[in-house]
Amino acid sequence: MNKTIDKIVSLCKRRGIIFQSSEIYGGFSAVYDYGPLGVELKNNISKFWWKEMTQIHENIVGLDSGILMHPSIWEASGHVGAFNDPLVDCKKCKARYRADEFSDDFSSIDWNEIQCPNCGTIGDMTEPRQFNLMFKTHVGPVQETGTEAYLRPETAQGIYVNYQLIQGAMRMKIPFGIAQIGKAFRNEIIARNFIFRTREFEQMEMQYFVKPGTDDATLEDWKEKRFIFYSKYLGIDKSKLRFHKHGDNELAHYAKEAWDIEYHFPFGWSEIEGIHNRTDYDLSQHEKFSGKNLSYFDQPNNERFLPYIIETSAGLNRMLLTVLVDAYWEDIENKRIVMKFDPMIAPVKAVICPLTKKDGLPEKARDVTMKLKSHFKVIYDQQGSIGKRYYRQDEAGTPFGVTIDHQSLSDETFTLRYRDTQEQDRLSLEQIISIINKSVHPK
Ligand code: GAP
Repeated sequence: MNKTIDKIVSLCKRRGIIFQSSEIYGGFSAVYDYGPLGVELKNNISKFWWKEMTQIHENIVGLDSGILMHPSIWEASGHVGAFNDPLVDCKKCKARYRADEFSDDFSSIDWNEIQCPNCGTIGDMTEPRQFNLMFKTHVGPVQETGTEAYLRPETAQGIYVNYQLIQGAMRMKIPFGIAQIGKAFRNEIIARNFIFRTREFEQMEMQYFVKPGTDDATLEDWKEKRFIFYSKYLGIDKSKLRFHKHGDNELAHYAKEAWDIEYHFPFGWSEIEGIHNRTDYDLSQHEKFSGKNLSYFDQPNNERFLPYIIETSAGLNRMLLTVLVDAYWEDIENKRIVMKFDPMIAPVKAVICPLTKKDGLPEKARDVTMKLKSHFKVIYDQQGSIGKRYYRQDEAGTPFGVTIDHQSLSDETFTLRYRDTQEQDRLSLEQIISIINKSVHPK
C-alpha cells in the first residue's frame, strides 16, 4: 500500500476532517480548518492528554493563559533575539528558502554556486539573513513603538510567568507540573506536509518544576511516560515511533538536553513531540527582566532555589496527523479505504442504520439512536445501500455499525458490524452498549 500525504489530504476533505483555510478565496497558505469529524478527533486526543497530565498526576495542574502577553516576556525568553531562521532569496525570481535546506552546514556554502530550485538561475542567491518567526501585532488604536506585541510562538512562557501565583494558590510542593493546551503562532518560511508545519497550531505543553540535581532523572522519567502515551491512548503502532537526541547544533537556545519523539511519516522520520531540560534558563531570564524574585522556598529543608524545568511539548495538530497516517489503510481485497482509528479516539463510535427505509425500520433505528447517544457519539444514516453506508463510515473511521432489520422488530436483537474485519454479531442492545463502552477506554 502506498500511503501518501496527498491521499490523506483528499480523504480529510471528503470526510469533513480537515479543510484548507479560506478555500473559496483560493486558500490561505499553512492554515487549516477542522471540520466536524476533525474537531471531534482533535478534542478526543487533547482530552486524553489533559487527563493523563492533570488527572492521573495529582501534582500537575492546568492553566489557560493569554495568547498576547507583555512584550518583554519574549525578550526575556530569548525569542526576540534567537528565534530566527536563516533565509536566502533568489534575486531573479524572488523565491525564498531556508538556508539549511541546501546543507546543514550552510555557513560553508558558496552561495554564488547555488542553483535556485524554482527558476534554475545559478549565482543569484543572497547570503543568509536571519528572519524572526514571531508574528508581530499592535495593541491599541495607534501603531507606534511601545504598542508592539507578539502572538505567542510557544505556550510555555505563559506557564513560567504564572508559576509562582499557581504554586502559592494551589500550595504546590516541588516537584510539580503545570499543563496548558493552546494556540501558538510561527511565521514559518517553509510550511509543508499538510498540518505537520503550519503558521497557526496548537501546543500541549507541560512544564515540570524540579529541584536542580534531580533534573536528569526526571527527564528520563518523562521520556518514558510520553513514549507510552502514543500507544496507550492513541493506539499508535510502536514500531513507527523512535527517539532522536538533539546534537549540539540542534539544541534550542534554552535547552541543556533535548529529545524528540519521532514518527515515521510518508515523508520520513519527523518530530511530533519534544522533551527538554530547560534548566533554570527561563526563570532566571524572567527574574532579570521583571526584577522579581522567582525562587522557590523549600520549607522542610529551609532552602531557597530557582527550580529547573523539564518540559514536554507536543503539537496537537502533529499528533492528529500521526493518528491519521497511522490509521490509513487501503483494504485492497474489499476495495475500500478504512481509517483504523482506535475506538478510544474515533470521532464517531457507531453508525446506526435501518436496513431499509420502510416497514417501521427507520422508527426502530431512531429509537436505538436515542438510547445509544447518551452513552457515546453515534450517527444515524439511512441514505443509500447498506454497503455504501458502511464504506462511508469505514473511511470516516467509525469502528462499529448497528443495523436494524426485520428480525429486530420481533426479538430486539441487532447486528453489530466491526469496521476492520467486517464480521457481524447478532446481539441485544445491552450487549452492544457493553462492547462499545469497553472499547472506548484506554487499555
Ligand atoms: N516550548 C518548546 C517548543 O515550542 P518546539 O520543538 O519548537 O518546542 C514543540 O515545538 C512542538 O510543537 C513540536 O514537537 C511540534 O509538535 C509542535 N510544533 C512546532 N512548530 C510547529 C508548527 N509550525 N506547526 C505545527 N506544529 C508545530
